[in-house]
Amino acid sequence: MAPLNRKPENLGPGHLEHFKRYLKEKSGLIFVGNRETLLITGLKERRVATRCQSWDNYRNILENKAGELDQLTALLTVNESYFFREAGQLELLSRSLYPLRRGQGRFRILSAGCSSGDEPYSIAMELVRSLGVEAFATVDVMGCDIDPVILARAREGIYNDYAFRGLDPEIRNRFFTPLGDGRFQVIDSIRNRVAFHQVNLAGNLVPEVLNNLDAIYYRNVSIYFDKPTQQRIFYRLAGLLRPGGTLVVSATEIFSHNQFLESGNHGLVRREWNSILFFQKGEARTNPVPAITPPIPIAVNGETVPTPTVGTQSYEGALKLAMENRFDAALSILDKLPGSATPVESMKIMGLKATILLRQNRIAAARQHCHDMQKMDALVVESHVIMGLADRHDGDYDGMITHFRKAAYADANIWTPHFFMGEAFAALGLLPMAKRSYQTALARLSKYGIGASGLPFGPLSLSENELLHWCRIRVQSPATPEPKRI
Ligand SMILES: C[S@@+](CC[C@H](N)C(=O)[O-])C[C@H]1O[C@@H](n2cnc3c(N)ncnc32)[C@H](O)[C@@H]1O
Repeated sequence: MAPLNRKPENLGPGHLEHFKRYLKEKSGLIFVGNRETLLITGLKERRVATRCQSWDNYRNILENKAGELDQLTALLTVNESYFFREAGQLELLSRSLYPLRRGQGRFRILSAGCSSGDEPYSIAMELVRSLGVEAFATVDVMGCDIDPVILARAREGIYNDYAFRGLDPEIRNRFFTPLGDGRFQVIDSIRNRVAFHQVNLAGNLVPEVLNNLDAIYYRNVSIYFDKPTQQRIFYRLAGLLRPGGTLVVSATEIFSHNQFLESGNHGLVRREWNSILFFQKGEARTNPVPAITPPIPIAVNGETVPTPTVGTQSYEGALKLAMENRFDAALSILDKLPGSATPVESMKIMGLKATILLRQNRIAAARQHCHDMQKMDALVVESHVIMGLADRHDGDYDGMITHFRKAAYADANIWTPHFFMGEAFAALGLLPMAKRSYQTALARLSKYGIGASGLPFGPLSLSENELLHWCRIRVQSPATPEPKRI
């Protein structure tokens, strides 16, 4: 093809609409709001790479040249993932779903929309560490994704620190080999046991090997599809399950498709294990295996929590310093407080430490405190608000929605989850959902005030009136850009 020798033709609305229609038909992906910018950037990049003189020329290449749709798709998918994401949903597998089927033939699991492999490898690691290698030998773990580039990375199984985000070091030491350059590779005995397949979940063809599954993990994928595609995929996934099989979806999916998922039209029935929702095909299993350690409900924000003290150095003293932005001084008081007598006291101290670390942008350390808190109580509200804010710091909108959804579940009165979910939905171009979230944030703020944030001190540098005003603007126009100070 001739080299480009003139200024590239602009991508006009006609071409853009055509590419949107084509991609929706071929991959089910939709491009609204901020995602339209992603599409335009991706198209321009591929047009330069294929040295096309015009958009008509590129359109021809995209529709007829083998592999070009894959290349473009790789630029347009959001591959955000990490190890042991929503770890409770993995425990559902090792502590309830698999034990119920033990001894009844092979147990087959699919991670649908598996991205770089973090999810299916986490599933395999969870099974090995909880049930042992013998049980794992009876399990098949598969991952599928539309994006061939990310699948190649998944097969390679090489990751840097970012994919571990607060992962228990024991898991990292056991299941990864350091490559000496800061990267780690999944050990062969796990890597060789996870099979990856390129599949377009929105298309018509699914390989035979993905039939008759015991469990499907379909998490943080559907948000990128339009409603009819989302629903078609739920029917398809239900069809891939054997009777009694389980569909596990993320909080994002539950939140976005609540009504449809609850409808039962697809033959899936909602179930719950240890506060974790999942959907089961066919006859109900009435007695899921009980949790080995049921979560202990602790009212961390409740009036009854005692205030840990040591001499004149107290939790209250540290909180006061933190509210004056004297974070190091506050942390040094908290570090000197004695080992607390009760889990409630130590949880309160951890919550304040994590909030301070977050404000200092020490995100990994803040996350680690949240993980520690969640080991004591999976529903502790601070931990989910802080994890959501940490994801906001990292620009991970799916993560934000997941954590703030849990925070809203843990404390129905606080405004923070709704405010920040509004922000995430707006960023993803899901404006009606953003608007509803801001409406709820406004209602919570008006009723309970800015102090009902779920944190020991406020996450934003705005007064209550400013925040109320800001929510009203966003209810009117959810896509309004943020003011600089937030
Ligand atoms: C945000 S990642 C989610 C990864 C993982 N499930 C998790 O929760 O960490 C979304 C993945 O869905 C994949 N995806 C998007 N559209 C798809 C389609 N039509 N068929 C299969 N996978 C798709 C993307 O390529 C991307 O890797």
